[in-house]
Amino acid sequence: MRFLITAGPTREPIDPVRFISNGSSGKMGYAIATAAAAAGHGVTLISGPVCLAAPADVEMERVVTADEMCVRVLACLGAADVLVMCAAVADFKPRTRYTSKIKKAAGFSAIEVEPTPDILCLIADLERRPLTVGFAAETEAFENNARQKLLAKNCDLMIANDARQAIDSDENELILLFRNGEVRALPRAPKTALADELVKIFSHLAEKR
Ligand code: CTP
Repeated sequence: MRFLITAGPTREPIDPVRFISNGSSGKMGYAIATAAAAAGHGVTLISGPVCLAAPADVEMERVVTADEMCVRVLACLGAADVLVMCAAVADFKPRTRYTSKIKKAAGFSAIEVEPTPDILCLIADLERRPLTVGFAAETEAFENNARQKLLAKNCDLMIANDARQAIDSDENELILLFRNGEVRALPRAPKTALADELVKIFSHLAEKR
């Protein structure tokens, strides 16, 4: 089976030295890529800027912005049986990308932003798509918010996690929301252990399709 996995944040440049981003470490996505490769699956990992080494036996693609991630996901989608959108894609990018550093003395009081492409929403309408898994980063009403994303983004599985606890941690706690209404909780555990469990669940779902 072929897995396409995204991980880490994206960076949306303001000028050559500044950007909008978030605190995603990429650890969950890299752990899933490692577990999938160890289970004998083919893996492409599309990663935003993180401080992690490439997992063994994984085809790595490095990107910076949401636009770049979107282009690479769409290009690799055809070969994939399972898509895991673990990346914390930035939702907004600066409307203007300055080519020179903005000088402090020039004054700077607001950044005008525009939306980035929602990669999962673009894939939602495709006739032929892989088993599609989203990760919902929430700070409240986890299950309700994640269920809305499951439907809005037409995923086969949406996995909710607490953004405040998950970011940069080696551990995570997950709530899995399936299309048939089933809800399964995976209690707090190392991301590596959760990843092993998730890869089994994803392959089982993909085999059933
Ligand atoms: N996602 C995406 N493209 C974006 C933003 C998010 O494909 N531009 C994907 C993420 O990779 C994740 C899922 O959508 O699998 C949910 O992301 P999340 O940040 O939780 O939700 P948002 O759709 O960004 O909504 P909100 O920020 O309002 O919670």
